[in-house]
Amino acid sequence: MALTNRHTDGFATRLGVLTATLGSAVGLGNIWKFPYMTGDGGGAAFLIIYLLATLAVGLPVMIGEIMLGREARANAVGTWKNLAPGTPWFLVGAAGVLAAFLIMAFYTDVVGWVFSFIVRAATGQLNSTDPKVGEAAFSAMVSHPWHALFWQWGVLALVGGILLGGVSKGIEKTTKVLMPLLFLMLLAVCVRSLMLPGAAQGLAFLFAPDFSKVTVDVVLNAMGLAFFKLSIGMGTMMTYGSYFRSDADIPLTTARVMLADLVVSLLAGIAIFPAVFNYGLEPTAGPGLLFMTMPAVFSSLPLGQVFMTVFFLLTGIATIGAMLSLFEVPVALFAGSGMMSRKAAVIATALGLAAFGVPATLSFSTLADVSVFGKNFFDLYDFLSSNIILPLGGICICLYAGWVWGGARSHAALSNGGTLANAAVIRVWYALVRYVTPLLVVLVLLKGLKVF
Ligand code: TRP
Repeated sequence: MALTNRHTDGFATRLGVLTATLGSAVGLGNIWKFPYMTGDGGGAAFLIIYLLATLAVGLPVMIGEIMLGREARANAVGTWKNLAPGTPWFLVGAAGVLAAFLIMAFYTDVVGWVFSFIVRAATGQLNSTDPKVGEAAFSAMVSHPWHALFWQWGVLALVGGILLGGVSKGIEKTTKVLMPLLFLMLLAVCVRSLMLPGAAQGLAFLFAPDFSKVTVDVVLNAMGLAFFKLSIGMGTMMTYGSYFRSDADIPLTTARVMLADLVVSLLAGIAIFPAVFNYGLEPTAGPGLLFMTMPAVFSSLPLGQVFMTVFFLLTGIATIGAMLSLFEVPVALFAGSGMMSRKAAVIATALGLAAFGVPATLSFSTLADVSVFGKNFFDLYDFLSSNIILPLGGICICLYAGWVWGGARSHAALSNGGTLANAAVIRVWYALVRYVTPLLVVLVLLKGLKVF
């Protein structure tokens, strides 16, 4: 096999492999998607469904994607060109790079809001028990075009700056510091939240099993969430896989990442809902919960401003590893194709992302009335990436790994050439990736396209 575009930098330690991959998985999804979907989808009943969805869909795709990346040791497009030269498979990688731009465009918009709220919380601008104060701060921010763009571009500069350091000295080093820090801060807010009188009600919202809420919709949403949560289906994990050490245990690493990511999501739920119920506020979803309800909740607590600042800071910290992994996909492509140096690739990508981000960010101000297919740019980017490219990519990864790449090569790759005693695990993975996972992802895709 003639390998092209191979890179020299990679994750230097096995701990770094874990923190970087976990850093990619942990992000906004844990804090403003997962807890609410759990509460709304039947608490513990949803958790069981989500666990099954990650086992049947998330982990098999993640393992296959990382495996292919490590085998080819190239970027999201180069991997396919190395493994299947002269075939159209590389289009899967090209779609993934497009998805990286689309996701980053709206993701960095929201992260910009978070960072601006860190400053507002720290300077006491959100100290009010009335959710209307958070609401006013939020709408002033999103409706002010330059304000929103300033924060978005600042976030891009920060992430680009880390990526200039490279893979081991940039991504790996940063996530090794941020992941433990995130756990500590999250635990501190959880303890505070659990000490409140209303804690039991919040925990009940999150954990009390209600199987009557589990509909076909909830199951399909859980599978879709597994894609977004685990950063799979668009080449992020393929790119990171190409940086994996040859002695890293891929199935074990993915299982650890999935469990640790789940723990972060549950801790986020424990940090949020007891406090929300304690003050009799509504457990809303998305921006409402994060930017309007949470400031009001914290303002009611003794030392609330400190905890509010820590809360927004930990949310910001959680997003950095996710953004590093998304940003790295085009950087690895541009730098790996020999067109330019890594530094030039980071700058070119940052400029491209800044430009792509403008329509998403202005969806709440200047371009509020512009709609394409009935959606503003923010929602359109989200729809195209989450509902179409991620599931399509997932299907292609399963078909390639399970039916083209095949059993013998997969066994060799996932057992590190026979040095790991994980034959049974690989056999289960192989059966899933051939017969089960792709069919389930087809259902997710059809649901995403609103076929049913
Ligand atoms: N997993 C991250 C989160 O939960 C988001 C993310 C990072 C992502 N990389 C991705 C989503 C790649 C889809 C594809 O916030």
